[in-house]
Amino acid sequence: MKVTVSVIKADIGGFVGHSDAHPDCLCTADSALARAKEKGLLIDYHVTKCGDDLQLIMTHQKGENNGDIHEMAWDTFVECTEVAKKLKLYGAGQDLLTDAFSGNIKGMGPGAAEMEFEERVSEPIVVFMADKTSSGAWNMPLYKMFADPFNTIGLVIAENMHQGFKFEVHDVKESKKITFKTPEEIYDMLVFIGAANRYPVKAVYTLSGEIAASSSTQKLAFLAGRYVGKDDPVCIVRCQGAFPAVGEALEPFAKPYLVEGWMRGSHYGPLMPVSVAQSQPTRFDGPPRVTALGFQLSEGRLVGPRDFFADVSYDQARQKANDMAYMMREHGPFEPHRLPLDEMEYTTMPQVSRKLESRFEAI
Ligand code: 13P
Ligand code: 13P
Ligand code: MG
Ligand code: MG
Ligand code: MG
Repeated sequence: MKVTVSVIKADIGGFVGHSDAHPDCLCTADSALARAKEKGLLIDYHVTKCGDDLQLIMTHQKGENNGDIHEMAWDTFVECTEVAKKLKLYGAGQDLLTDAFSGNIKGMGPGAAEMEFEERVSEPIVVFMADKTSSGAWNMPLYKMFADPFNTIGLVIAENMHQGFKFEVHDVKESKKITFKTPEEIYDMLVFIGAANRYPVKAVYTLSGEIAASSSTQKLAFLAGRYVGKDDPVCIVRCQGAFPAVGEALEPFAKPYLVEGWMRGSHYGPLMPVSVAQSQPTRFDGPPRVTALGFQLSEGRLVGPRDFFADVSYDQARQKANDMAYMMREHGPFEPHRLPLDEMEYTTMPQVSRKLESRFEAI
């Protein structure tokens, strides 16, 4: 049976500040998706949050980029924004950049990761969600999962993974894409995906074209033309069989790495793996967080979730992320904690520099 998994997310208001989602908004979203399920639009759904981002995890049979699914998700965000406005939550409707839905949620602010596939005899999937970081944050973990044998031993010892994968890489500035074959082209590919902010990995496929991973790559600052918070991306990964084992998909997050985001979207900081309950960025509006929910699909039903990072084996990663956070914070407003100047263009800084422009004299 063909199933589509759609993960569509938006920040529709933070509780308190940018730290968390409000339970009333989650409840409202749950009721909206329950209605969609009753109508037969959805097979199943799970509503959750990552920090101040509301996450709609949905299964259906309408394929990717379906107008009915996107419109229902958009309407859900609009309804939740009304709740957020009544509670005067912070930045109510923050990620809804347009007034009316126009066919496809892409380009309207919310982030979307979707994949359609023939459901296998057993179909384990992991949905990764991040807060206080940008799209592109999945580049290093996707590389490790699908191209690094030090992370994924299956690439070496599993016959059905040994031939490698294909990575679809987007150029978000020039709206172009390119596909690389790994392991043959890893050096070429790393030239680009090492610059994660510009060249996010959109999807990973097997050689026969089966979808393996899909991520959201929307750039809020490009869409809005000004700073409206960070992208806070999501990513879906299929596991086992010809794909990484669940433990191989989770392994990259055992070593915190630096991502763009954190306070005012203007700083580098460590990505900390946490449970959903611990996904409220707090210290200096951070450090950036990542959650991972696992599901077994059964005829499209979402059996789960398992909250993977609610586990003692990530304690050390959290400790390390805290240590890294202290180290980065010591730089205060200085690089390399603060983003380099060209990246600061997409924050609130340009207003300040415009104000001072006329005071600069030639030297
Ligand atoms: P089990 O014997 O627990 O099924 O483990 C199999 C395995 O390959 C784990 O990576
Ligand atoms: P969000 O994108 O999570 O709303 O973060 C915005 C911000 O500026 C935090 O300091
Ligand atoms: Mg916010
Ligand atoms: Mg957020
Ligand atoms: Mg955001």
